[in-house]
Order: sequence, then structure tokens, then C-alpha cells
Amino acid sequence: MQLHENHSLAAYNTFGIDVKADFFVKVQHLSELKLILSNPLYLRLPKLFLGGGSNILFCSDFKGLVVHLELKGIEDLGDGLIKVQAGENWHHFVLWSLSKGYFGIENLSLIPGNVGAAPMQNIGAYGVELKDVFEHLEAYHIATGEIHNFDCASCRFGYRESVFKNIHKGAYVILSVTFKLRCNANVDTDYGIISEVLNNRGILTPTPKDVSDAVIFIRESKLPDPKEIGNSGSFFKNPVLSLSDFEPIKKNHADVPFYPSGTGQVKVPAAWLIEKAGWKGKRIGNYGVHEKQALVLVNYGGAKGSDIYKLALDIQSSVENQFGVHLNMEVNIIH
Ligand code: EPU
Repeated sequence: MQLHENHSLAAYNTFGIDVKADFFVKVQHLSELKLILSNPLYLRLPKLFLGGGSNILFCSDFKGLVVHLELKGIEDLGDGLIKVQAGENWHHFVLWSLSKGYFGIENLSLIPGNVGAAPMQNIGAYGVELKDVFEHLEAYHIATGEIHNFDCASCRFGYRESVFKNIHKGAYVILSVTFKLRCNANVDTDYGIISEVLNNRGILTPTPKDVSDAVIFIRESKLPDPKEIGNSGSFFKNPVLSLSDFEPIKKNHADVPFYPSGTGQVKVPAAWLIEKAGWKGKRIGNYGVHEKQALVLVNYGGAKGSDIYKLALDIQSSVENQFGVHLNMEVNIIH
């Protein structure tokens, strides 16, 4: 385990923001994590635990210790139960499951990031969320050094939400996640665009691999590849509105898309609101709003995190002024 000082984080966040951490260390085993966290030199320093760095925006250098979690391993426990270490790449795990005949996460193909970060915000796409296949996780309690187990109920998953983003924020490091996958090849193609792509391909009885391929195709055609253009996927969450808040929007914009979300509530695509407010494809020097998906902010190269954050604030107030809707940021902002 090697400790680096004044280390660039550019390669460790998908926005590609070039900030520095005072201290940086890669951790491949639990024993290394324990060692570094009990070292008196770092005890009082602010700490940041990074997985794939796909949901984070650095606005300045990090004055503390960054721990890059690289715990690896996928273990087949039988009966569709699969234990995956936090440092495994999410999409690699999706492909692994398909190759072994385990299904249920094909709709979550190509989501950037690592397995350990997936429960934090209950990743979701094309009608499936992590909570649908989640069994339990093991997490390291930073304050006591104990390992705690969390089942589905104790994670309190919601739309891009879990206890690790609110009441337990900063308290735990997720070490491993155990999934309950299916052995039957039933697929979920309810999300319009998936059936559209499958139909266009002439596939009438899709396999999970067909669904995965369709999702990869959709994501690649709409979302920028972080290896080419720095970004962090959806920057904002889709707002959930009461019917009374939604009514005036619907009255002025008959074309507004919306989806029922619990009783008396609708979810409205933030991308639609941002696009209507005139931001889609807007470029300010080396950063801007993606031209194909208004929910994605991008770094064309060399942008500062604080500039992208300022853009996000401008979008927030412009959508608020125009529609009376507050957009919450999905991405973790590190000031
Ligand atoms: N739309 C626009 N303008 C745009 C893009 C979309 O008006 O530029 C409207 C269209 O009406 C479209 C609707 O928004 O039908 C929904 O768009 P899309 O299917 O692309 O989904 P989204 O709601 O924008 C969410 C997730 C994505 C996930 C997709 C697919 C959130 C915050 N985002 O986006 O997740 O891939 O659904 O399920 O819930 C991510 O979290 O990083 C992410 C990419």
C-alpha cells in the first residue's frame, strides 16, 4: 500500500476534473483499509472514499485523505446469490452475470462506476433499480471499525436514495454487495425505448443478452462516454411533483412528459425542463450541457469543477424561475 502526497485526482473522477488530494492511497484488502484508517497521522483529516468516481464533482483540491477502494472478487454463493466486492466495475459484473446465466441486471448495463457505489444511490435505468436485485451488503463503520450488515429494508432505498446518502452519510465504507439474481431468462422490456430498439432489430422474444445489447446501444447513442467527454451521467434527479404543482406546467405545456409516481404525484423528466429552459447543447468554453441529453453536464477538457457547479446553479435557478420547480442535484459536490 503506497501513500501519495499532492496526488492528481483527474484519473479518478469521470468528469476528469484535475484537482489534487493532499494524501491518496489505493486499498485492495480490508486489512489495508483498517491500517490506513487507524493510522494516527490521518485520524483527524477529512476523508473521501472513491470508487469509480462517476457521481462526483470536485470544485477544489481535497485537503485530506482520498482512499481509492479497489477490493476485488465475485463469489457465486449458489441459488442466484452473488457476493461482489465493492471495487468491481459495475458493467463488468453485469457482463459476468449474463455469461454465467444469472439475470435481472441486464437493464442496468453500461452504468459507470463500481459495485460499492451502486447501493449508495440505488442506481436505476430502464425500469429496473438496484433494490430489485439487492440481498444485503457489508459496510465498514468508520468510527468503530466494526463491520455491519444491511438488508434491503435497513438501506431504505428510494429513487436515487439510501441511508448512505442521508442519515449515514460519511459514516460507512461499503465493502461488498450480495445480489439475488434470477436463473430464469424473463426480461423487462416495458421501458418504451427498449422495445423500440428490439423491434427495429426484429427481435420478438428477447433474451437478457438482447436486452443488455439494446441498453448498451441506447446509452451509447444518447450519453457521452466519460473516456471521451468528461461527465457524470444525470446531474440532476427527476423532480417528483404534487398534482397541484404539476397542473400549471401541464396547462402551459400540453406536451410535458410525466410518469405516475406514488399517489397524487408525478415524476417529470428534468431533461425536458432543462431543454425547455433553453440549456440543451449550450457550451460555455470548455464545459456545457450535452447536446443529446440535457440532464448531462460535460467537461470538454480542462474545465474547472467550480465552473460546472456554477452552470448547475444557473440551470437550477432558470428552471425554478420558468416552471417553479426546484431541481435537486444527483451528483456529489465536493467544495
Ligand atoms: N428528454 C428531453 N430532453 C432531453 C432528454 C430527455 O426532453 O435532452 C425527455 C424526453 O421526453 C424523454 C424523457 O425526458 O422521453 C426521459 O428521458 P430518458 O429516457 O433519457 O431518461 P431520464 O429521465 O432523462 C433517467 C435516469 C438515467 C437513466 C434513464 C433511463 C435519472 C436522474 N436519470 O434519465 O440515469 O439512464 O432514466 O432509465 O433518473 C444516471 O443516473 O446517470 C442516468 C443516466
